[in-house]
Amino acid sequence: MPISLELKRKIVRSVDDLPPIPRVVMKMKELMMAPNCSAKHIADLVSQDQALASKVLKLANSPYFGVIRTISSIQQGVAFLGFNTLHNLVLASSLFGMYEKELKGYKMAKGALWEHSIYSAFAAQSLAESVGNKAVRETAFTAGLIHDVGKLVMSLYISEVFQSIMDLVERDGLQFLEAEKKLLGFDHAEIGSEVARKWRFPPALVNAIRYHHAPQLASSDADLVSIVHLSDAACLMMGKGSGVDGGYYPIDGLALQTLKMKEDDLQKLILRLTSSVNPAILEV
Ligand SMILES: [Fe+2]
Ligand SMILES: [Fe+2]
Repeated sequence: MPISLELKRKIVRSVDDLPPIPRVVMKMKELMMAPNCSAKHIADLVSQDQALASKVLKLANSPYFGVIRTISSIQQGVAFLGFNTLHNLVLASSLFGMYEKELKGYKMAKGALWEHSIYSAFAAQSLAESVGNKAVRETAFTAGLIHDVGKLVMSLYISEVFQSIMDLVERDGLQFLEAEKKLLGFDHAEIGSEVARKWRFPPALVNAIRYHHAPQLASSDADLVSIVHLSDAACLMMGKGSGVDGGYYPIDGLALQTLKMKEDDLQKLILRLTSSVNPAILEV
């Protein structure tokens, strides 16, 4: 069945229909860049939204951060975790509502994209710890968190071409992603990079999303792209949030090489994540 140009146009246009990045996230970034930014400024901003503040505190108290005493206020959170980590938690908490929905197009149950994304975010942060570049360490969590944001858009339309995609998968042995691209001319990674652009994320993040399934095609930001690719792979190996497209995931050798890792190292990462991440924390 040929795919209509109109459907392709509709998908591309609907990037604009996604809600904008929450204002509090933008505002926080601005505050953090101001030379006189203090823990109180951040705390005042986040505390304006009590529901958000309590979600941030729940995440801040995850075993992942290893903070021994309970963090009971945002100001304490800034002091113990630092501005950047707190920013990550605010972003994650604000995206929760958007991400926890069922993605019918990808056959992902309610909560599955959230689970996949939050595990990927912590995995990316963990991998980034061994990378020398500070900018990479600071953006890895966000990159992991939003790498599949394109699925939010694609899921609305993919049901219309689902059977044609599955035909290509079953008949021609293509991966779901390849079939998606063959039929539509783009995949969720490309659509996701458009969303990141719209949300005014920096170019490195746009690249990481764009190439998370094909790190060998990225002409810059090799560390961040590789981190997101391998985090994604590790999460799918753990069975975290795989939809219809997550069955077979070829791990890119170049990404392993870039991060000086062996495939075995992914098992170590999985063990770390299993013991320290609890994505259900925001649901209660
Ligand atoms: Fe993906
Ligand atoms: Fe993914």
